[in-house]
Amino acid sequence: MSQTRKNILFGLSVAFLILLLLVAPESYGQKKENTPVSKITAKVDSLLTLMTLEEKIGQMNQYNGFWNATGPVPKNKNSAEKYRDLETGLVGSMLNVRGVAQVKAIQKIAVEKTRLGIPLLIGFDLIHGYKTISPIPLAESASWDLEAIEKSAALAALEASAAGINWTFAPMVDISRDPRWGRVMEGAGEDPYLGSRIAEARVIGFQGESLSDVHTIAACAKHFAGYSFAEAGKDYNTVDVGTSTLYNTIFPPFIAAKNAGVKTFMNAFNELNGIPSTGNSFLQRTLLKDRWGFEGFVVSDWLSITEMVSHGYAKNDKEAALKALLAGSDMDMESHAYRNHLAALVKEGKIEERLIDDAARRILRLKFELGLFEDPYKYCDVEREKAVIGTQQNNERVLDMAKKSIVLLKNKKKILPLDKEGLNIALIGVLAADKTSPLGNWCIAAEEQSAVSVMEGLEKYTKNKITYSPGVALDLDENKADTDRLGIQNAVQMAKGKDIVVLVLGEHGLHSGEDKSRATLDLPGRQQELLEAVYKVNQNIVLVLLNGRPLALNWAEKKIPAIVEAWHLGTQSGNAIAQVLYGDYNPSGKLPMTFPKSVGQIPIYYNYKNTGRAWSQKYTDESNDPLYVFGHGLSYTNFSYSALELTAPEFDSKGSIEVSFVIKNTGNYTGKEVAQLYLRDLVASVTRPVKELKGFELVSLQPGESKKVRFVIDSKTLEFYSARENWESEAGTFKVFVGGSSKTQLETEFLFNK
Ligand code: NOJ
Repeated sequence: MSQTRKNILFGLSVAFLILLLLVAPESYGQKKENTPVSKITAKVDSLLTLMTLEEKIGQMNQYNGFWNATGPVPKNKNSAEKYRDLETGLVGSMLNVRGVAQVKAIQKIAVEKTRLGIPLLIGFDLIHGYKTISPIPLAESASWDLEAIEKSAALAALEASAAGINWTFAPMVDISRDPRWGRVMEGAGEDPYLGSRIAEARVIGFQGESLSDVHTIAACAKHFAGYSFAEAGKDYNTVDVGTSTLYNTIFPPFIAAKNAGVKTFMNAFNELNGIPSTGNSFLQRTLLKDRWGFEGFVVSDWLSITEMVSHGYAKNDKEAALKALLAGSDMDMESHAYRNHLAALVKEGKIEERLIDDAARRILRLKFELGLFEDPYKYCDVEREKAVIGTQQNNERVLDMAKKSIVLLKNKKKILPLDKEGLNIALIGVLAADKTSPLGNWCIAAEEQSAVSVMEGLEKYTKNKITYSPGVALDLDENKADTDRLGIQNAVQMAKGKDIVVLVLGEHGLHSGEDKSRATLDLPGRQQELLEAVYKVNQNIVLVLLNGRPLALNWAEKKIPAIVEAWHLGTQSGNAIAQVLYGDYNPSGKLPMTFPKSVGQIPIYYNYKNTGRAWSQKYTDESNDPLYVFGHGLSYTNFSYSALELTAPEFDSKGSIEVSFVIKNTGNYTGKEVAQLYLRDLVASVTRPVKELKGFELVSLQPGESKKVRFVIDSKTLEFYSARENWESEAGTFKVFVGGSSKTQLETEFLFNK
């Protein structure tokens, strides 16, 4: 074809594209409904016909911005090169670009300088908020409050979208059984059922009813798959799990996120059973895209494409690009491998261009769904940015979430709640005055020192006299020796004779998170020594724990009368903790993850399976019991469970039964209980857990009040991945357990006939 003819054809195509975009009925600013899928497909297809191979590959290339790297920065890649690529349409997305000014400047390059003017996806890790920070996800999960969790994700989307962001790398839906792994803070804990419900809530929170709304953004289920099962809890480590764990434990939250309409998936750093997830075609193509019918796109994790060379799965970056693409990774986060090698691989005949088209199509579809072609600056309104971020109302919303996330682990002698007047309180612990640590990890956009400290909170809500001593320093480097003895002496002196000692101990916000695995689960630094020294002079201790993972605190559990799990609760930490300690808020959180007694018990989780020798399976030096079971959490009031009933002793696959029981508030405070339903499938084609969570309900009760709680069980409730490699239920006897934790109080059984 002659060059002139090519130019004419190109000109016609561009004219057609412009016409196509202009005549779309849902023009600028009017629409609220999603554009019909068929229309978007037609637009994407027609745009694809205009694109060169390089431009399509460009859509699959994501660069980090020039600030805030959230991973190692690749060598030899400079800003000038990235700018050049932006201007020539070789970039489809940027991450870590934030704030209207920055986003607008970058988007302007894509829209005004490139040949086709395709807008960028702007990605960001909204793990627990943008600027107004919510509790870490593990803490939020302790609320078991799906509505609150959905609202929290919606708030993150509201603030981030006002700062120019249109896509988040959240939620992390990895089921975590190993608290040594620092990223347990980012997930919903150990249970696939709770994890699935929370995954749905978060996806819906971020994406809302329509992505065309200005306050909603695209979500991303990560890390697909198996990342949290890293051997020895060491981040990025090898993962080797069998079919049953993969399908019955790891996959359910991903499937739930997909069914909730999540627009993107992120693959993972780890190898899974010998194949890096990023190059795993079974995971990404066979399962996710073919069997599960996922129509969105998969982004690689940061550098995870080229890291396949280090895994020993690709001999160089080019082969890594080939393997990742063939396996179904659609977008390359920051490793530059797609940008540098895909075109050559197509030209060499190693990759069919239809695979590039498929990836680019998936990415472009999201850009249309977000309404970026109609208005690329949709999220770039300076006035909205000023009005929406960090408001008083947002702070009230994260305070509400923070209170709901607190778990009362122990309250002997009813030491809590504290009186608001007349007490002489010693407040001890360096974390008590810290205004940054409570924000937790993963809060890049938050300002340092922006959290309300425990000290500020305690002072605000009371007329009590509070004196403070930090006790011991807390270094992020746990190997650094702290030789200062004076701090402990001062704290001990101060604690003597006080009515109450509030000790605020735990982990710094940056002790957990990515690449923050720990081999021990005790209090970092010399905090245990401080605790024991203070205990010698005053035993009226309330221990407030600030941490990002379950800790093994045996000594404290034995000796300390009141223990409050307050995690890293975000911007409003101190206010939430004070409201709980003073009884303005009655705690109702329940642990989403088992707390072990020792590191040697790990992995320890409630839904384990019996072995052939369940009776004799034990340690010689440790009990089998955890420190705190999954689902545990106390209240200032008490709840009793009674009258467990089934509507029938048996049912079949066409029917269902109802389980009901009565909860009564038998104490003196109004309170909220998370009523939990567990089942056990006694005999099946593959062995089944001793208990599996199948339902829960938050029940609020006045003192003396009772309520009947009901759950419906049908054959869907009983499904699992069977020996026939199928999601199905099997006939047999099932035990039913109900109660306020996975220990449960009542028990019955039913028969299921297929
Ligand atoms: C690496 C992390 O594993 C992932 O979760 C995160 O989204 C990316 N970095 C981007 O920051």
